[in-house]
Amino acid sequence: MRWLLFTALLPLQKVLAIGQNATISFDDTSDSIKLASRYEYVQIAIDGADWPGVIRAAKDLAVDFGRVTGTNGTVSLIGGSNSTDHGTPIGLNAGMIIAGTIGNSPTIDSMIESGMVNVSKIQGQWEAFVSTIVPSPMPGVHEALVIAGADRRGTIFGLYDVSEQIGISPWYWFADVPWQQHDGIYALRTTKEQGSPSVKYRGFFINDEAPALTGWMNQRYAKSKYGSAFGSDFYSHVFELLLRLRANYLWPAMWGSMFNVDDLDSQPLAEEYGIVMGTSHTEPMMRATNEQTTFMKGPWQWNMNNASMYSFMQDGAERAKGHESLFTMGARGNADTALNGDDAISQLESIIENQRKILNDVYGNESSMPQMWCLYKEVQDYYDYDGLRAPDDVTLLWVDDNWGNIRRLPIGNETGRSGGAGVYYHFDYVGDPRNYKWINTIQLQRTWEQMHFAYERDAREIWIVNVGDIKPLEIPISHFFDLAYDIEQYRTPESTSWWTEQWAAREFGSELAADVAQVIMTYSNLAGKRKYESMDSSIYSIINYDEANTVIRQWQDLSAEAQDLSDRLDVEARPAYFEMILHPVLAGATVYDIHISAAKNRLYTWQGRTSANSIANHVLDQWNFDHELTQQYNQLLDGKWNHMMDQTHFYNNYWQGPMRQSTPSLYYIQLSERGLAGDLGFAVEGQNGTVPGDDKYHGNGGASLTFPPIDPYSPNRWIDIFSSGTTNATWSLEGPSYIRFSQSFGEISPSVNPSDIRVWVSVDWTRAPTGSTMARINATSSTNYGTQYEAPILYLPINNTKLPANFTSGFVESDATISMEAEHYSRMTGSSDALSYFTIPNYGKTLSGVALTDYNAPSQNTSGPSLEYDFYAFSNISRVANISLILGQSLNTIPSRPLRYAIGIDDQETKTVAYITDRPRGTSPLGWEAAVLDAAWNSTSNHTITAGKHTLKFWALEPGLILTKIVINLGGVRQSYLGPPESVRVGRK
Ligand SMILES: *[C@@H]1O[C@H](CO)[C@@H](O)[C@H](O)[C@H]1NC(C)=O
Ligand SMILES: *[C@@H]1O[C@H](CO)[C@@H](O)[C@H](O)[C@H]1NC(C)=O
Repeated sequence: MRWLLFTALLPLQKVLAIGQNATISFDDTSDSIKLASRYEYVQIAIDGADWPGVIRAAKDLAVDFGRVTGTNGTVSLIGGSNSTDHGTPIGLNAGMIIAGTIGNSPTIDSMIESGMVNVSKIQGQWEAFVSTIVPSPMPGVHEALVIAGADRRGTIFGLYDVSEQIGISPWYWFADVPWQQHDGIYALRTTKEQGSPSVKYRGFFINDEAPALTGWMNQRYAKSKYGSAFGSDFYSHVFELLLRLRANYLWPAMWGSMFNVDDLDSQPLAEEYGIVMGTSHTEPMMRATNEQTTFMKGPWQWNMNNASMYSFMQDGAERAKGHESLFTMGARGNADTALNGDDAISQLESIIENQRKILNDVYGNESSMPQMWCLYKEVQDYYDYDGLRAPDDVTLLWVDDNWGNIRRLPIGNETGRSGGAGVYYHFDYVGDPRNYKWINTIQLQRTWEQMHFAYERDAREIWIVNVGDIKPLEIPISHFFDLAYDIEQYRTPESTSWWTEQWAAREFGSELAADVAQVIMTYSNLAGKRKYESMDSSIYSIINYDEANTVIRQWQDLSAEAQDLSDRLDVEARPAYFEMILHPVLAGATVYDIHISAAKNRLYTWQGRTSANSIANHVLDQWNFDHELTQQYNQLLDGKWNHMMDQTHFYNNYWQGPMRQSTPSLYYIQLSERGLAGDLGFAVEGQNGTVPGDDKYHGNGGASLTFPPIDPYSPNRWIDIFSSGTTNATWSLEGPSYIRFSQSFGEISPSVNPSDIRVWVSVDWTRAPTGSTMARINATSSTNYGTQYEAPILYLPINNTKLPANFTSGFVESDATISMEAEHYSRMTGSSDALSYFTIPNYGKTLSGVALTDYNAPSQNTSGPSLEYDFYAFSNISRVANISLILGQSLNTIPSRPLRYAIGIDDQETKTVAYITDRPRGTSPLGWEAAVLDAAWNSTSNHTITAGKHTLKFWALEPGLILTKIVINLGGVRQSYLGPPESVRVGRK
C-alpha cells in the first residue's frame, strides 16, 4: 500500500519520530549521507553474534526501506562464520547502517574501542542507544549510519526509530496506516543520544477480548487443543507492534486462553523478539488462570491446597527460565475475586513467602527476576489497612478505579522502595457500573493528567494499560506509550494537542495534520463527556439550555468535518482513517443521536406532537446506520478486521454488555385521531407541558405557559408550534411591540415531516420596559381547540437588567444563574514560580480544567495560590445561594490528604470542602458510581450573595484537584447534564 501526497508542494520535509529528534531526511543535502534510493538498496550490517531480536528488527527495517523506496534493504550478518546476506539485493548498494548491541556485537565493541563511536552517555543504561554517522567504519565503506544499543531493546528501538522516521507507522499492519514513497532516504550528519525511557516497563494487557478480538481470531487462526486461537502467529504481530511503539511488556489475553500452553512457540517467540512477558494482576508466577483449572489438582485455595499450588507455581517459574519475565506475585481467589477465608491476609503472606522461595530455588536468588505485586481491589485494603507488605524489591503496582482514575500513589517511605511503583490503568473495562469495551472513549487529556501525575509521584517502574481488543484503541495506546517513553516531551498540559498533531502528521501526513488533530481533540472531548455504554434517554436535557440540540450539533459538525477530511485524504489512507477516526466519530454521533432522539420521541409523545412518529422513524434510521457502520468496519479491506466491531453497545443496563441489541423505548402517536385539544399545540423552553390542553406538568387547566425569564444577558427563548391533530391549521403570535419573533405566523400540517416550527423570541431592550415585567403573548389559529379548551396564552417574564457603569469586567447573572468556566478566572493571586495553576485544554465535560501545577506540593491553605472570579448579581435573594463546582473525576491518592478546596465570596468566611469520601474497606468512595458515569464530581457549598458586584475566590488545597466549571445558583438553575452554559462575560480581553 502506498500513497503519494502532493510531495512536490510540500516544503522541505522534516520527518520526525513522534517527540523525537530527527536523524533521517528525504533530502539530499551536504548535511546528509545517502542510505537508499529507488534503485539502490541500503545494507544493514548486524553482527552474527548479536541478539536474535536485533537481527529480526533489522530485517523489518530492510523491508520498511523497500516499502518506501521500492527496493528492499539487505541484512548482512557480519563478524565470523555467520556472515550471510538476507535476500537478493536488486540494483546497487547506496548506503550502510551498522547496528549492534554493546557487549553482544564485537563489531560495535571494536568501533567503540577505536573511538569511532562514543557511547559514554548511554552505556549501561536501560534501553538506551546512540545513533551517529561514522566515517570509514570498515574497509571499503566510506561512511555509515551506526546505531549502538546499550542493550538489545536499545538497539531495536534505534532500528525502529529509523522505520518510523522513513514513514512506517507502528500501526502499518494493525491499523493499515499507509506510507509515502520517496526517491531517496538519507541519514543526517547528527548524533542522537537516546537515554533510558522515562518508565522502565511499558506494556498493555489484552483483556475483555470477546466477542470482538476472539471472533476475529477464531476465523483467522486454528484453535489449540485447549480451544484457543491465540497463538504465536498472532502474537508476532503484537510483539512487533509493542516494539515499534517503544513498549516492552505484555500481559497476554487470558479469557479462555493460556499463552504459554496453547502454542508452545509463543513464550520463546516473545523472548526472541525481546518482549518482557508477564501475566495479569490476578495470575501469579507466569501461569494463566485457565492453567489453574486445566492442570492443577484441587482448588485454587491456599489454605486447602497449598502443596498443589506450590508445585503449580514452581512449574511456571521453571518454564519461564531463559525468557525475560516480570513475575506477578501474590494471588487473588478464583476468577478475579478475593481469596476465600477469614485469614486471607496470612494466606497472602504465606503465598508471597513461598513464591520468593520458588524464585530462589529456580533462579538462585529470590530477587534476580523483576516482580510486581498488584494492589487490586481488596488487595489494596490488605495493604492500606492491614499492613500487609511485599519485599522491598517487589514493585507495587497501584491500580486505577477501572475508569482511568488512579486510586493511590506512593507516599512517605514508599517512594524509597528499591522495587519502586507502577500503575495498572484502563482504556477498556468489564465490570461495574458499566462495561466500556466497544470503541474509543478515552479523553487523551485525562490520560495525560493522570499518567503525568503518576510519573511525578514516582510511579515510574511499570505502566501497564488494559486495552481490550487492542484495535479500536490505537490513539490512546500510542499516546500512553509515548508518554511512558519520554515524559520530558509532555510536561505541559498543552502537550496533548501537540502530541495529537504529531501523531496525525505521522499517520496521515503533515498537510492535513492540524485538521485531523482537531477532529481527534474534539472527539476526545465529546466522547469524554459520558461513555456510550452509559448513555440513555434521560441524560441530556431536551427542554433546558438547548442542551441536547447543542451536543447533537457538535457531533454533527464533527461528523461533517471528519467526513470531509476523509474525502480529502488519498484513497490509500482512508481505511486507516476510517478505523481510527471516521468510524468512532460517526458511530459516536449515531449513539448520541439515537438516545437523544429517543428522549425527544418520548417527550413529544407525552405532548401529543404528530412529529413524535417521524422522530421514532429517525431513530430507526439511525439504528440501521449504526448497523451499517458496524458492517462497514467488519467488511473493510476484504474483511481484514471482521468481527472487530461485534461488541454490542445498546442496551447496557448492568456490568455486562447485552447479548443482543435493542433500541431505547419508542412511542407512536395515533395519527388518525385528532388531539382532544385540537390540531395544534405550543411548547416553550424549560417546560414539559404544552398548551392548549391538560397534562401533569401544569395544573392551571391548560390555558397558559410561562417561559424562563429573558434579560439582556440571556439567550433568546423559543416556542415550538406543532401539529396535534388531523388537519392543517394556520397560527399567529402577537405580543408587545418590543418582542420579536423569528416567525410570527405560519401553517402547520400533520403531513409535513417534521411538522414542528421553532420560533425564537427576542426583545428589543431599548424599547422594553425597565425593571421586571411580564409580557403576554397571544396565540391564535384558524382552528378550534377541541370541545373544551381555550386559545393558549404564553407569558414571558422580562428582566430589563442593566449593569452599573463601574462593573467593567466579569460574569453577569442571567436567569438567577451565573455559570463560569474554570479557565476564565479574572485573576490568579498568591501564585509563585514554584506553585500556581495551569489550564488543561479540552479536559472534562465542557471547556477545560484548571489544576495546581506541582503534584508534589504540600497541602495548601488560603494563603496559597487562588483563582478569583468577578461577577455581578441582580437577584437580591434573602436565602443562601448554592455554589456548585464541577470537578474532574480524579480520586484521592493520599489517604491522609483527601482532595479539598476552599471557597468564599468577597471577604466572607471561606468554606473548606472535601468532596470525595473514601470508605474504609469499601471498594470505592461514596458517590463514585455517579462520578464515573457522569465523568465529574459535583460539590456544593452555601453562601450569602446579595445584588451587586462580587468576587468568588477559590483555592485548590491539594494537588490533583481539577476544577472545570463553577455554577452559582441564585434560584434559577435548571436540570441539565453539563450545567448551565457559560454566562455572558463582559470586558473580556
Ligand atoms: C521485500 O521483502 C518482503 C519480505 O520478504 C517481500 O514480501 C517483498 O516482496 C520484497 N519487496 C521487494 C520490492 O522485493
Ligand atoms: C535532541 O535535540 C536537542 C536540541 O538539539 C538536544 O538538546 C537533545 O539532547 C537531543 N536529544 C537526543 C536524544 O539526542
